[in-house]
Amino acid sequence: MAKFNENYLNLKESYLFSEIAKRVSAFEKAEPDKRIIRLGIGDVTLPLSGRVIESLHSAVDEMSKADTFKGYGPEQGYDFLRNAIKDYYKRNGVELDADEIFVSDGAKSDTGNITDLFSVDNTVLIPDPVYPVYVDTNTMNGRKIIYMDATADNGFLPMPDPNIHADMIYLCSPNNPTGAVYNKEQLEQWVEYALANDAVILFDSAYESFIQDKSLPRSIYAIKDAKKCAIEFCSLSKTAGFTGTRCGYTIVPKAITQKASNGSEMSLNKMWNRRQTTKFNGVPYIVQRGAAAVFTEEGMKEAQAMISIYRENAKIISDTMDRLGIRYFGGVNSPYIWFECPFGMESWDFFDKMLNEIQVVGTPGAGFGANGNNFFRLTSFNNKENTAEAMERFETLFK
Ligand code: MLT
Repeated sequence: MAKFNENYLNLKESYLFSEIAKRVSAFEKAEPDKRIIRLGIGDVTLPLSGRVIESLHSAVDEMSKADTFKGYGPEQGYDFLRNAIKDYYKRNGVELDADEIFVSDGAKSDTGNITDLFSVDNTVLIPDPVYPVYVDTNTMNGRKIIYMDATADNGFLPMPDPNIHADMIYLCSPNNPTGAVYNKEQLEQWVEYALANDAVILFDSAYESFIQDKSLPRSIYAIKDAKKCAIEFCSLSKTAGFTGTRCGYTIVPKAITQKASNGSEMSLNKMWNRRQTTKFNGVPYIVQRGAAAVFTEEGMKEAQAMISIYRENAKIISDTMDRLGIRYFGGVNSPYIWFECPFGMESWDFFDKMLNEIQVVGTPGAGFGANGNNFFRLTSFNNKENTAEAMERFETLFK
């Protein structure tokens, strides 16, 4: 009998967003006439922009003709897209080589897949609360996880503790779920800590395009020496509405190297290339053409126009919290509003109350870790009408 991976026994029975979907669908069956408004999973609602659609259409046409048809593409991504991403970073003041950029089907897969490159003996440092993928994938591999407390007291931005050693560190900024964003000085401390501990930072910047405050770093590579110790994951899901289209990218700098126990030189960039060429056949050509359009001047303007609409929704939510005197975080440089559950409730109870009484779906903070137990997350990704109606319904809970 093959032995199953018993680390799976240490996971919660279902992934956070599957559990939410299950509860919502049970409610829908029981109460088919009630209109539910979804501010739960961070899924976008605006359609892809004009430039992206144009580019997708013309790529489809290319696939219809023998002389422009494409079969397998480079596993790492087509040069046109890797160079477009490289230029995007350059415009934001970061120099990368195109072969440090790996195009993928999204940051979720890559933040999980990257664990292939690291020994199971490593100790992993993960904030609590956090995007559950980091915890679940390391649990699947059986790695030791040390949690660092992200609380209202530290603005949900935990800082390194020199008394704790870690080998792998997950940071997400702007943060999912709290919306908190590290500043330059804070990230400098993290880079310093990683270098002192020979650790690697796994930096998730999927929400970078929501940063409005120009002093806040949009990439870990805005920090000196970060290329020696950090891998960055990003995605077009939230930047340009690609949640269903699937395209992201991971930066694995060539400078992160190590001497193996047999004395040979190991490079994370080469290892990731080896992994991807073995286990991944690349993102579809059509999707990569659509993605490349995002990085054009017009494409960027369109993407920013979409983000402004989501920002207005975030404002509708945060204004409501202000009116009700509820303490919240995020919503300015992030699409998420993270607030303290009213009535002293725990987050899953508040989730059920919202669903049953006002038919608004959010995400219970406990799903992101124990420190989220009394917090709740709403997203700004629905449309304006629904967001406004959800907030009107929300206010009725207090009457
Ligand atoms: C979320 O709601 O936390 C995100 O949509 C999850 C994701 O990006 O995979």
